[in-house]
Amino acid sequence: MAQQQLQAEMQAGQQPLPLHVAIIMDGNGRWAKARKLPRYMGHRAGVKAVRRIVEACRQRGIQALTLFAFSSENWRRPKVEVGLLMDLFVRTLKKEVSRLDRNNVRIQFIGDRTAFNPKLHAMMDAAEQQTTNNDGLTLVIAANYGGRWDLVEATRRLAARAVAGELSVDEIDSEMLGRELCNANLPEPDLFIRTGGEQRISNYLLWQLAYTELYFTDLLWPEFDAAAFDEALNSFASRQRRFGKTGDQVEQSRRA
Ligand code: FPP
Repeated sequence: MAQQQLQAEMQAGQQPLPLHVAIIMDGNGRWAKARKLPRYMGHRAGVKAVRRIVEACRQRGIQALTLFAFSSENWRRPKVEVGLLMDLFVRTLKKEVSRLDRNNVRIQFIGDRTAFNPKLHAMMDAAEQQTTNNDGLTLVIAANYGGRWDLVEATRRLAARAVAGELSVDEIDSEMLGRELCNANLPEPDLFIRTGGEQRISNYLLWQLAYTELYFTDLLWPEFDAAAFDEALNSFASRQRRFGKTGDQVEQSRRA
């Protein structure tokens, strides 16, 4: 569908637009291998795709985009690749933060950033501070993030408060636990996209994806562009989200 038409339909309220999109950007290595390039070049091409999709989100008025840049399991990759990825993160932050700031993008990081080298850690803190008052797109970068880590950290904080007598165990419910998790300041993702042909969640936002619509594409991340993103948005718009209700109930409340 032509981009303008899609935008017009979205503005007219005919196409439900996800408020929050979460993406696993998979396939950089295979993209590079197919071109007989080192894997690192695939990650560099991946940064270009990040730029395209951030821009597409801004144009379409999406509130939040969470990108899985580095999982807690990615440390198991060859040392050289991990080092090159860290260099790429540093260079990308240096190059992009001011532009994102000018475009009213708020940057947030989720994950255990203490594991990164102090320079990168400081750059992450600075990017968040610099953009904290922006109220356009919220761009969340998941770095050294894992869904199980997120749940364990939240549980530890609640347990500590219970031990300190600030909280009774019976008070703990799903809202309270949800408020302790990463991205608690954002609506839960409406749409999850994974590129690269695998159909897995891979320890991403485990709790937050409970009611999220899942979309998988064989396109490799460096190939993912605005048109491919619109296809994912169209697929999302065509689905009926029931949140446990029947289809008839959902239709009735939509008409009411
Ligand atoms: C997965 O592809 C990709 C990664 C683990 C790294 C993703 C990082 C970027 C795109 C850079 C983004 C940078 C910022 C600052 C947002 P893969 O290497 O697993 O690909 P493969 O499955 O084909 O081997």
